Amino acid sequence: MRKGISQAMGALIFVYALFTWGSCTHPPGIYYDNKPMVSQQCSVDTIYFQNDILPLLNSTCAVSGCHDAATGKHNVVLTDYAAVMKTGGINLQNPEESKIYRVLGKGGDESMPPPPAAAWSTEQQNALLTWIGQGALNNACTNTVCDTTNVTFKNNVDPIFQTYCYGCHSAGNTSGGIDLTNFSQLALLIDNGSLLGSIRHDAGLIPMPQGGNKLSDCEINTIAIWARDTTLTGGGGNTGSSCDLDTTYFQNQVLPLLQSNCAVSGCHDAATRKEGVQLTDYNSVVKTGRVVAGNPNRSKLYTILSGGGGDDKSTQDGIMPPPPRAAFTTEQKNLVKNWILQGAKDNVCDGCDTTQVSFKASVFPIVETYCLGCHNGNTPGGGIYLRNYSDLVAVAKNGKLWGSINHETGYSPMPKNASKLSTCQLATFKIWIDNGTPNN
Ligand code: HEC
Ligand code: HEC
Repeated sequence: MRKGISQAMGALIFVYALFTWGSCTHPPGIYYDNKPMVSQQCSVDTIYFQNDILPLLNSTCAVSGCHDAATGKHNVVLTDYAAVMKTGGINLQNPEESKIYRVLGKGGDESMPPPPAAAWSTEQQNALLTWIGQGALNNACTNTVCDTTNVTFKNNVDPIFQTYCYGCHSAGNTSGGIDLTNFSQLALLIDNGSLLGSIRHDAGLIPMPQGGNKLSDCEINTIAIWARDTTLTGGGGNTGSSCDLDTTYFQNQVLPLLQSNCAVSGCHDAATRKEGVQLTDYNSVVKTGRVVAGNPNRSKLYTILSGGGGDDKSTQDGIMPPPPRAAFTTEQKNLVKNWILQGAKDNVCDGCDTTQVSFKASVFPIVETYCLGCHNGNTPGGGIYLRNYSDLVAVAKNGKLWGSINHETGYSPMPKNASKLSTCQLATFKIWIDNGTPNN
């Protein structure tokens, strides 16, 4: 009797095993090989799945809760070549009809990656389309020459981050609290060694890119050379070289203004992108703000602040920010203008000094740059005004100011939808509050 049962069990297991192995190696139809064809030389005309597409999918789609193997949302898994071919709806005859391409950046609920994660850039979308058009092959290339003679952030480092990292580490998705598009944060990660340590897979640090292959030696060297030479860490400060009074800095002065006045929900944040304009970070500002370096009058980002067209007659439309939001002050417009005149660079400086904190010279300038855009006008954020000294004292006294900027539980983190203020800026508020909020 016992023997009969175990024999029957054995047969069952055998049949089950046959069935599962069978379904594993022979899915309905085609078998896709996860081993890529590797070319020794990268051709500029070819898009390579392993180099160009998979890292993007890994950092923006095959993430936990979405299209990783464990979740497989809507039965779509995008972790490797075979999975992409089986579940990504690739259409070789009509590449543009491929489901995986059609859902990118469509806007609304259908859009992938879903907001608040940043949409794929046009270049990234085109790369996917080209790859499908070239036959959706499982291809890879290894450039034997690693050219690190002239490493710049824009040409060398930013493209690596775009492919491997921003999906998990930009404003829409700050995994581990890290936003690699924020230069002050990046400078800190360089200074404390975790940027290089994590990509080199040093012991004690979490290996990055998470869930993907290690970067190539060439990519790691490129980032290492840039991190060593970059001016971000120069000058002894944590957040860049010290501020030069004649220079306008994008990360310190322009971006925070745009984030609090323009990149707000329903307007030019990553989720809305009104009229295709997104003003959340350097790349999107320069690209969609139609910035012409050196020429403010031909830069829409600047001319629209006065509602005038400047040299560009196509911009004779409404003023931004639109009423009832307050228009930029002349001083704020000049910041944008000077920054463009000076070449519209992605620059940053260490401009925070806590030796002599005063309300007028230290606290309120931070509020004007980072907060006022949302906390004035007819409908201030959360019903809270931050227009002047007495407004600030009110939120300082009830604890909401410190709770929100220090991201304490029970408070809405501020500035909303932007990176936390720098340690030095937080210290400025803390000192002013601890000193009894003097009106100095
Ligand atoms: C799939 C998402 C994902 C991708 C892609 C990714 N990261 Fe991360 N990263 C995370 C998460 C999540 C954490 C926080 C891990 C934790 O705290 O457990 C993290 C942490 C880090 C840290 C802190 C490490 C430490 O030990 O303190 C650094 C630095 C970092 N990432 C850099 C990068 C860089 C550079 C890339 C691209 C080469 C990258 N990440 C790609 C998700 C990702
Ligand atoms: C992009 C718009 C935006 C920016 C920029 C912004 N806020 Fe807010 N703030 C809001 C909104 C909206 C609320 C209401 C709560 C919510 O929706 O999160 C709010 C709420 C608050 C609150 C109440 C928090 C609570 O938990 O009760 C305080 C205090 C505050 N903001 C201070 C600031 C300060 C200080 C800054 C600048 C460092 C700032 N905000 C920048 C939109 C913004």
